[in-house]
Amino acid sequence: MNILVTGGLGFIGSHTVVELLESGHEAIIVDNLYNSKVDVFDKICQITGKSPGLFIADATDAAEMDDIFSKHQIDGVIHFAGFKAVGESVSKPLEYYRNNLVSAMVVAEKCVKYKVNRFVFSSSATVYGEQEPPLKEDSELMPTSNPYGETKAMIERILTDVAKANPEFSVCLLRYFNPVGAHKSGLIGEDPNGIPNNLMPFVLRVARGEIEKLNVFGDDYDTPDGTGVRDYIHVVDLARGHLKAIEKDSAGVSVYNLGTGSGTSVLELVNTFIRVNGVDVPYEIVGRRDGDVATCYADVTKSLKELGFKAEYGIEDMVRDAWQFEKNKC
Ligand code: UD1
Repeated sequence: MNILVTGGLGFIGSHTVVELLESGHEAIIVDNLYNSKVDVFDKICQITGKSPGLFIADATDAAEMDDIFSKHQIDGVIHFAGFKAVGESVSKPLEYYRNNLVSAMVVAEKCVKYKVNRFVFSSSATVYGEQEPPLKEDSELMPTSNPYGETKAMIERILTDVAKANPEFSVCLLRYFNPVGAHKSGLIGEDPNGIPNNLMPFVLRVARGEIEKLNVFGDDYDTPDGTGVRDYIHVVDLARGHLKAIEKDSAGVSVYNLGTGSGTSVLELVNTFIRVNGVDVPYEIVGRRDGDVATCYADVTKSLKELGFKAEYGIEDMVRDAWQFEKNKC
C-alpha cells in the first residue's frame, strides 16, 4: 500500500515510516518541520535503503493537501501531525485547537473526497483522564482537562462521525501510553525542541550534563515506591502497532490501546537508566506536578486479540536505545 503519513518526520512518525518501508509498503511524508528536522528524512533513507515521498507542507493547508491527494494514488493515511505539549496547550489554547482540529479535519475531508478509506489516528491515553487503571478502550472519554487532551478526544469524536456518515471509511484510533526509546540504529529518536517536559527527554538532558538534575514530581503517591507509575512503550513497538492498524481490513471505527500493560515508576525507570547505561542521573524529590495521576497503564487484551499486537521490548531496551540515540546526537 501507499500510505500518506502526516508528521512523518516526528518522533513516532519517523519510526512508523521505517516500519512501513521495511514491510514492503510505500510512504509519502507530509511534515511542516514545526517540531522535527529535515535530516530525519536522510536517516530514514539510510536505515531502510528506500526513499519515501516528502512534502514539506502543513496539513492544515487544504489547497496543498488537495494537491497532494489529487496527484498520488493513496491507499491509507496515518495522521500524526499535531501539537503535543500539554503545558503549552494551556497557554496557547487557540493555537492548539486550530492546529490539531483543522489538520485532522482537512486530512479526513481529503480522504472522503479521494476515497482513501483507511485512516489511523494518533490519539493518547490522556482521553481516559483520571480513571482507574487498567484502562480499557470502552471507558468513557474524560480527557485530563487541558486543550491538548481535549483536541485528542474531539478528533476521536469527529472521525467517528465521519465514519458513521461514510460506511466505506475505516478509522482506527490508537491510544498511546508513554512512548520512549529510539531506533536500534541510533539514527532516529526523540529530539524535542526547547526544554522537554516529559520524563525520558528530561532524563537524557540530565545524563548529558545539560541540566543539573531531574526533579522527581512526588514520592508520596499510593504506588510501591511512592513515585508515579506509567506504561512506557518502546517507540519501535508503537510503530509496529501502526503497521498492524493500517493493514487491518475493517470498516467502521476501532479503538486500541498501545501500551505494554504494565507500569514502571519514575525511580525504577531512572535507576534502570543508570544501571544499563552506566551514567549518573542526579535527581531530587520535589512536590507533585499539577494534573498528574498516581498510576496509568493499559489493558492490552483488545489490541492483542483483535490487532495481534504485543509489545516486545522492555524498559532496559527503552533506556539503552534512547541513550544511544542521544549520544549519537552529541
Ligand atoms: C504527560 C501528559 C499527558 C500526555 C503525555 C504525552 C501531563 C500532566 N500529562 O503524561 O497528558 O498525554 O505526557 O506524552 O503533562 N516526571 C517527573 N519529572 C519530570 C517529568 C516527569 O518526575 O521532569 C514524572 C511524572 O510526574 C510522571 C512520569 O514522570 O509520573 C511520566 O511523566 P510524563 O513523561 O510527563 O508523562 P505523563 O505524565 O504520563
